[in-house]
Amino acid sequence: MRTFQQIGPLRTYLRGIRQEGKTIGFVPTMGALHAGHMSLVKRAEQDCDIVVMSIFVNPTQFGPNEDYNSYPRVLQQDLQLASNSGVDAVYTPSTEDMYPAGFQTLITPGPLAAYLEGEHRPGHFSGVCTIVAKLLNIVQPDRAFFGQKDYQQARIIEQMVHDLNFGYEVVVAPTVRAEDGLALSSRNAYLTEEQRAAACAISLGLNDALRAYTAGECSAKALREIVECRCRNEALVSLEYCSIVNSLTLEPVEEVCSVSAVILIAAKVGKTRLIDNILLPSRTS
Ligand code: PAF
Repeated sequence: MRTFQQIGPLRTYLRGIRQEGKTIGFVPTMGALHAGHMSLVKRAEQDCDIVVMSIFVNPTQFGPNEDYNSYPRVLQQDLQLASNSGVDAVYTPSTEDMYPAGFQTLITPGPLAAYLEGEHRPGHFSGVCTIVAKLLNIVQPDRAFFGQKDYQQARIIEQMVHDLNFGYEVVVAPTVRAEDGLALSSRNAYLTEEQRAAACAISLGLNDALRAYTAGECSAKALREIVECRCRNEALVSLEYCSIVNSLTLEPVEEVCSVSAVILIAAKVGKTRLIDNILLPSRTS
């Protein structure tokens, strides 16, 4: 596996790959890799000839009181995992390379970023779009791979790639869950054993709602109440939002049976903020 810290040598390497007629799959990450990231790598390996991963904890997507400083940084472990999973090249830029003195251009996403995470984490998606755009411009992959766990992020990136004519395909791969249902996230590492058990209320609530939907419940209010009830019953879980929205526009829906909808949830378990979601496919399609 090749590793690159500098843009120049990475570009030279990738130019060679393209000249050989090979396709490039790109998996951007902030490191602290887990099976969710590895499922993106596997998907990229299936769809493309070579897989490039980036590892960069991006300061511009963290708010002033968020966990930028404490975000897990385990580069050697990540490189080992990436190498074992067949990643061809890893790009680990420095903050100074990504945001050199004088840097001043940020991407501002549109209405998709106005609610939910956008409302609770002002500026977050501008930071995400900016770094993803930079990384896509550097790597120029054929396809880039993102996890469904960050549903709103994936939709915003799809929209950005479309609006700004980037010409890369965005692939969104299903959320990977632990045996107890908890969506895999690098932030799960912050949870104590007790908090980890309590955090399962989130995925249990989402699954309860999916079951009710499958059994015929169409009211978004009723489905939300099912999720909220699970979370209320867990003293360690503090719900930030539970919203049921159109899966494309992310606008709230009242009635879910005739549109493709998604339940999006954010909750704090202790000091750890977790997000999760579940799709409610349209019954009429
Ligand atoms: O999902 C993430 O890990 C990050 O938001 C991303 C896409 C790598 C941008 O920093």
